[in-house]
Amino acid sequence: MATANPFQDPARFRRRVRPCALVIFGANGDLTHRKLMPALYQLALERRLPAGFAVIGNSRTEMSDEQFREKMREGVIKFLEDSKFEEQVWRDFATGISYIAGDLRDPACYGALANRIEENSRTRQTGGDVLFYLSTQPSHYGAAIEGLGASGLARGSGWRRLVVEKPFGRDTVTAHELNQTLHKVFPEEEVYRIDHYLGKETVQNILAFRFGNGIFEPLWNRRYISHVQITAAESIGVEGRGAYYQEAGALRDMIQNHLLQIMATIAMEPPAVFEPNAVRDERAKLLRSIRIMSHDEVATHAVAGQYGPASVGGNELPGFRQETGVSPDARIDTYAAVNFQVDNWRWAGVPFYIRSGKRLPKRVTDIAIRFNSAPHTLFANESPDSAIWSRPNLLILRVQPEEGISLRFLSKHPGSGMRLRPVSMDFKYGSSFGVRSPSAYETLLVDALTGDLTLYTRQDMVEASWRAVQPILDVWASRKFEFPNYPAGSWGPQESDDMLARHGHAWRTP
Ligand code: BG6
Repeated sequence: MATANPFQDPARFRRRVRPCALVIFGANGDLTHRKLMPALYQLALERRLPAGFAVIGNSRTEMSDEQFREKMREGVIKFLEDSKFEEQVWRDFATGISYIAGDLRDPACYGALANRIEENSRTRQTGGDVLFYLSTQPSHYGAAIEGLGASGLARGSGWRRLVVEKPFGRDTVTAHELNQTLHKVFPEEEVYRIDHYLGKETVQNILAFRFGNGIFEPLWNRRYISHVQITAAESIGVEGRGAYYQEAGALRDMIQNHLLQIMATIAMEPPAVFEPNAVRDERAKLLRSIRIMSHDEVATHAVAGQYGPASVGGNELPGFRQETGVSPDARIDTYAAVNFQVDNWRWAGVPFYIRSGKRLPKRVTDIAIRFNSAPHTLFANESPDSAIWSRPNLLILRVQPEEGISLRFLSKHPGSGMRLRPVSMDFKYGSSFGVRSPSAYETLLVDALTGDLTLYTRQDMVEASWRAVQPILDVWASRKFEFPNYPAGSWGPQESDDMLARHGHAWRTP
């Protein structure tokens, strides 16, 4: 039975993972020991995994079960974020972890996996349900999907689901091809395309904020909002991922997926019910409403940057081209900013400025909604500072760090006269709830293990977001940039400021 407020439905919180097995392809890669295992350990610590649970790792490297467990243990100790490592919890959990070395192009690999799944089902009562997790090099995705199909592993006595890690293709065509390959073996309802930003607590909270309250939605449109800025800044460089990154770049790595999903969550229409496809339909509709730029418009609506070396606070920071694994004449963007337009009734004429970059001054992800100014400046004579009159109302949804929401407005300075000053009302997750927020991977793993697709992307969403960036990728592929064009530790290239200034706007400093 539907409850009055779908966001308070207790069934969502009681959700229990039932006995099953998780098979990770590419288990020797970074993601498994950095993100997946710490998330699984945390779930085990909180008793959210059933006794009948097994993890089977696969990659080509020869390793015994014991060696694999030890590698995972080290990863958990190193990357566990908010809890203390408890040896006994790990030992119990690790009895369900095993490893199979094998090449995904070799049918024997799937035979060995089938035997291990069967063995776990007998010895650990994991039953016939299996979640496959594709976290290999993207070039191996096709082989793994076809191998699962040909071996019969994609079907079984229980459910069979497949999580696909990013990158999901490298442009519109390859994303579409990957979808076709997937659909030959898995129906869409069994495909879980992961975008870990959708699993972040604060990104989910955008829905609660917008649709659980009555006061914001009436203002949430072109009549009251001047523009929206979405920033995902990172202070780190490419951290040993130079080889991948110089092929991808900031637009592909962050904007096409994470930030367009955030934008869809900010701008979508309210779904009628809180069900996976109802929510995903609205996100997809919004992504499809993003105006596709002409190639000529790219120059004025998108900016690429690449960081150069700089000395910051006494530290010598290398430029991108000096990073390990990066070619000395790499042409890829480590910073990208785009002015997206949404062609629908709610948002016509409201720019959505989105930027992301490596080696910016700090790590921060937030969404700033800038409201129009009051129609008549009643107090201007008494508060001559013109800066505070230009659109003083600002709503900031802070995704990370220090997750929270703040609303800026003008207030009277104490004393005689009517001097106004911006002040803010703040909500901070940490102090309001006093509980830890689960990591995105904890949330998303539980969702996949319990069959909830709400926070996973669908074929049409992924393809629509690729279409939105495709003209920029096309133009940038043949453009000769004068890189580097911003020093490490700065807020990006001047051109990015100019792009907003042309509309009378300016990036805020988060
Ligand atoms: C990944 C990108 O998807 O997201 C990385 O490939 C980026 O380049 C990372 O650093 C950022 O994620 P988070 O959760 O640390 O903001």
